[in-house]
Amino acid sequence: MKKIYIYLAAAAFFVIAACVFILHSYCDSKITIYSPTGEETQIRKWEFTKYKNKGWTVSENNAQTTMYSTDGRLCLADVDEVEKYKKVGWTDNISDASVSVYSDGGKELILFNDCAAQFLESAGSKWKNFYAASTLMYGKDGKSQSVFLNNVDEYLQKGFSKTPQTLDPSIPMIAITFDDGPSAQQTPRLLDICEQYGARVTFFVLGSRAENNKEILTRAAHIGCEVGSHTYSHKLLTKLAPDALINEIASTSDIITEATGKPPRSMRPPYGAYTDTVAQNAGAGIVLWSVDTLDWKTMDADQTVENILNSAEDGDIVLLHDIYKTSVDAAERVIPELQNRGFALVTVEELINSRFGGIENGSVYRKAENR
Ligand code: NI
Repeated sequence: MKKIYIYLAAAAFFVIAACVFILHSYCDSKITIYSPTGEETQIRKWEFTKYKNKGWTVSENNAQTTMYSTDGRLCLADVDEVEKYKKVGWTDNISDASVSVYSDGGKELILFNDCAAQFLESAGSKWKNFYAASTLMYGKDGKSQSVFLNNVDEYLQKGFSKTPQTLDPSIPMIAITFDDGPSAQQTPRLLDICEQYGARVTFFVLGSRAENNKEILTRAAHIGCEVGSHTYSHKLLTKLAPDALINEIASTSDIITEATGKPPRSMRPPYGAYTDTVAQNAGAGIVLWSVDTLDWKTMDADQTVENILNSAEDGDIVLLHDIYKTSVDAAERVIPELQNRGFALVTVEELINSRFGGIENGSVYRKAENR
């Protein structure tokens, strides 16, 4: 009987010894880990959980990225798992899961999509979207910028005005225009560029494209750009029966008015083709161009940039198309460069107001040099 106890004691001893040995070697073994910012350190294996929660990983190449859900959760996902997360509605770009709201003083608050509506309801009027919390102000040099409502007085004192001022006609100016849009892919990027540089351009939109992208037109108007008509469906107007002609113009004008709050003041007929009948029914100025970039033909940003910079001069109206990535790429380079050369980048309406004292319905404009 005694023997059994000895065996049991021996067995227990071995089990305990084995456990201690395993635990000891586990606790003592060190691993190298990497922080999200690339720092490297050695820790004991059992300490890893603590570090993992802060985004450290065991392999240098095992990069992780932060993923966001629209209800405000976030987590770290291995890079090769990002697509899996995206399939169930997560995103790796916080701005896709959230909206920013602003106070009149310019404070920003980021709200996750699922909570935004409820928050805004309870916050009253303190927090607003960007365009409600700010207003566009116009500088004497032809540049414009968004100013938070609380700062308006300060900008008035600096010589900015709240509405487009009739620019001093002696300032060199150019109107860049974009036909055939809006494009859901390219136009918003172009608007970002305009906003960044305080440049204002003119869009001659097709009613058929604009009716499903009215929010793009609304934003364009918000940042001081002009929205003109390029007719509803890009037909050759010179061949249309009067009813069809009037319909092409009126339907587009209605869409523009609804999106921007004002009817178009300028119209560009497709292919630049017009007759007296077209001019009489335009209900706006007929705006052609003096610099043809041929961007639609070359589809080459370098060539388009060159075509503009080689010929651009005061009063020019430049023809581009915001449905091509290459054309928006060109605009991204040309806009700051023309400003560096001293040109104010203004809308067609501003250019013609400044040089001719206003747009006349049915008159044809190609260029508006200082006279
Ligand atoms: Ni066109």
